[in-house]
Amino acid sequence: MNSPNNPMPWRLEWSHELSVHIPEIDAEHRHFIELINALNEAIAERMSLSEVRKRMQDVIDDAVSHFDHEESLFIEWGYPEAEQHARQHAAATKVFTDVMKRIERSEMEYDWIEAGLQVKQLLVAHLLNEDMKYRDFWLAQNGATEILKKD
Ligand SMILES: [Fe+2]
Ligand SMILES: [Fe+2]
Repeated sequence: MNSPNNPMPWRLEWSHELSVHIPEIDAEHRHFIELINALNEAIAERMSLSEVRKRMQDVIDDAVSHFDHEESLFIEWGYPEAEQHARQHAAATKVFTDVMKRIERSEMEYDWIEAGLQVKQLLVAHLLNEDMKYRDFWLAQNGATEILKKD
């Protein structure tokens, strides 16, 4: 997980595989990647624990408002998997709350590394496994599936 030779173990780069081809959503996903990288940087550079906490909270707050935004788009689109997707958002939000509760008072760097990694993995897995399902729906609805063939 955290190699001593790699001081930025969870740094993420945006790539076209992460794109849902919906500009407003891609912009939000890019933003959360920036926030995750900022959290990673705070841990890697051993910034104060209050700064690490703040950055972790920024990731979580951003994710929660992004989830709300997606759910309102689902209603607009008439997305048939909206409920199932919203359940995944609720489950992820519960994990974030539990993670924050678990580490809030911890002064141990390892706890924060592990917690940051858990939050990051959950968000990336959600993007790749769940958000990609509405990408396919939205592109089909908009007659734009040929976009995927260019990837
Ligand atoms: Fe998303
Ligand atoms: Fe989502």
